[in-house]
Amino acid sequence: MKELIIIIRPEKLEDVKDVLDKVHCGGMTLSTAMGCGTQKGSSEGTVNEIKGLKTTINLLPKIKVEVVVADKDVEKVIMNIREVCATDHVGDGKIFIRNIEDAIRIRTGERGVKAL
Ligand SMILES: Nc1ncnc2c1ncn2[C@@H]1O[C@H](COP(=O)(O)OP(=O)(O)OP(=O)(O)O)[C@@H](O)[C@H]1O
Ligand SMILES: [Mg+2]
Repeated sequence: MKELIIIIRPEKLEDVKDVLDKVHCGGMTLSTAMGCGTQKGSSEGTVNEIKGLKTTINLLPKIKVEVVVADKDVEKVIMNIREVCATDHVGDGKIFIRNIEDAIRIRTGERGVKAL
């Protein structure tokens, strides 16, 4: 099993939910986040202010989706997420992947992929 941490533009959330509904039938966790990538949230050299402090980093609103999927579904999820989220402009987001050792459905005690 792998956990995919998928950081996307907020306006792509519905598309990403549709992808996960289609490719993976388990659950997901979602949170709102602020972040920046290599452009530090703005064009090079721009000075921004956060709470009155000057900073060269500007954090932009993002959505973070955490989803644990079976190993066999990982590439399918990545491909489909890229299909709906790639705009060819900077800031489309990122997917991080972590190994997940086990999962337990608390209600039934099922383990592993059965618990997803
Ligand atoms: N190395 C990182 N660690 C943690 N979060 C990151 C990292 N890189 C990007 N993110 C998160 O992903 C969001 C989108 O990043 P973004 O797509 O701008 O990445 P990028 O590397 O700058 O790629 P691009 O050049 O296509 O913009 C960021 O706002 C941040 O929340
Ligand atoms: Mg960027």
